[in-house]
Amino acid sequence: MYEHDVIVVGAGGAGLRAAIAAQEEGADVAIVSKLHPVRSHTGAAEGGINAALREGDSWEDHAYDTMKGSDYLGDAPAIETLCKDSPKEVIQLEHWGMAFSREEDGRVSQRPFGGLSFPRTTYAGAETGHQLLHTMYEQLVKRGITVYDEWYVSDLAVTDEERPEDRTCHGVVAYDIQSGELSGFRAKEGVILATGGLGQVFDHTTNAVANTGDGVAMAYRAGVPIEDMEFIQFHPTSLPSTGVLISEGVRGEGGILYNAEGERFMFEYGYASNDGELASRDVVARAELSEVGEGRGIDDEYVHLDMRHLGEERIIDRLENILHLAKDFEGVDGLEEPMPVKPGQHYAMGGIETDENGETCVGGLYAAGECACASVHGSNRLGGNALPELIVFGKRAGAHAAGKDLGTAEIETGQRGEYELGEVDTPVQPGEVEPAGGEGDAVADGGVAADTGSGDGHDIVERAVVRERERVQSLMEKEDGVQHAEIRSDVQESMTQQVNVFREEEGLKQALEDIAEARERYQDVFVKDPSRTFNTDLIQTLETRNILDLAEAITLGALARDEFRGAHWRAEHQERRDEEWLKHTMLSWNDGTPELWYKPVILEGEDKKYEPKIRSY
Ligand code: FUM
Repeated sequence: MYEHDVIVVGAGGAGLRAAIAAQEEGADVAIVSKLHPVRSHTGAAEGGINAALREGDSWEDHAYDTMKGSDYLGDAPAIETLCKDSPKEVIQLEHWGMAFSREEDGRVSQRPFGGLSFPRTTYAGAETGHQLLHTMYEQLVKRGITVYDEWYVSDLAVTDEERPEDRTCHGVVAYDIQSGELSGFRAKEGVILATGGLGQVFDHTTNAVANTGDGVAMAYRAGVPIEDMEFIQFHPTSLPSTGVLISEGVRGEGGILYNAEGERFMFEYGYASNDGELASRDVVARAELSEVGEGRGIDDEYVHLDMRHLGEERIIDRLENILHLAKDFEGVDGLEEPMPVKPGQHYAMGGIETDENGETCVGGLYAAGECACASVHGSNRLGGNALPELIVFGKRAGAHAAGKDLGTAEIETGQRGEYELGEVDTPVQPGEVEPAGGEGDAVADGGVAADTGSGDGHDIVERAVVRERERVQSLMEKEDGVQHAEIRSDVQESMTQQVNVFREEEGLKQALEDIAEARERYQDVFVKDPSRTFNTDLIQTLETRNILDLAEAITLGALARDEFRGAHWRAEHQERRDEEWLKHTMLSWNDGTPELWYKPVILEGEDKKYEPKIRSY
């Protein structure tokens, strides 16, 4: 068994920042990640980092824009923390040597982004995430922080008291992809989940194949509530054939969207008469698909994004990466032709419920970055707010796990006190079909009495390892059955068909039926590749179970929320309904029979209350 004070799962922006912060507090910290750090999906982030750095801007304006962008479903304490801390974190990156784009006078450059009232998106060309990741990786190497890379964390080692709020996380179980060995990792002070996005729940996504929502699914099965899962962001400019992202930075620099008639439809049809292409992402994604629906799409599928008028010099200076992506993945020369774009799944606004210190309701378990929901983004994230979230909340989670006092959080986690239960009319009742991997095996299986372990958690981790060995062995022993790829692709297709930008009740119910059927088939899943080393068949089989559990959570939340808010559009419910829906959708695993409940959104900030207004751009 490996032992460290703090164990960080995932080596993207949030994981690296958390590890650095924990180490600065004196903790012995290690990262366990299925990818080498510089292969993490943060490296694919293009556009930039929102931070109020300049005269004329303020963290208060950033907070206001973020709350408005969230369609009043973000929690003010989380939003204000993000906006206050982001400038410090950007300056920290600059001091660590991050290669930001710069103005003639030497200041780091900032550009406009969707939904912002000030051009506050700080960037490094159109490869900001890549620069950020490498800058922090250098710090990791300099500090000698241990990294177990190509280790797949498949389970958490958590005690099994009845109430999740009474449980403790003592570590994780991880599979060494190189050797095929499963081992326990005991965390003396805390485990931080920083596993990133869940884009692989959909089949057209800007996300990497590694983004399978592992942390969210593991925490959910261990009893941590997951929050606002129905809010999925579809980025307006992904390449049609692959889903590869074409940065919002193109529109920030002045790129224009055209329909098949050559019309600048954002203005022409009044989708966003003030901000046009720089409206919030949910607005632009709906506009594009409306154009396609009205028969004004190109090839009945996409629209054009044109940046030719910006000129070669400016494009090379600020967007060079975009030229390569358009050429390599779509065969289009962005200097000579408009680029085809359509909405693609990009980001999950929801995730593991945390407070603003990154703590979940399970003792010793933290989450930060895209897998977490503090909640900063509410029902729609603004472009350029993901990277500051990684560094601000990664740092806070790392420091807190290592013992730093960050003050009492204002956001409460877990089912404490009174809470409102939800109901949803589904074709398949939650729990009717056996969950893919059994009822709830993230929690230590202690029989009748709760397994609270003997104190330091060794035994809890050991038992979790034994359980995982049995699970892997039984998957490997089967000689025949269904392969994960079939199950995965059917669910991805159904989610993209039914739980996309435009959602209808019938489609959502269809998706739930498809997921239930996929679960049944997963009972017969088998791993065809018998090898012990680099067995991607096995890893993807384990990941597929996570995809199934999260697909169900997203769809249940979407079916229950009978209103139109932010990225969640419902055909039958065309109004935002504040009287009923200023509340977060919460789901608890509940031994595989998901329980739906709600908690109110917090609109009271430090000095003011954010009053919900009509949201227009
Ligand atoms: O469009 C982009 O460059 C993506 C930025 C983001 O998601 O924040």
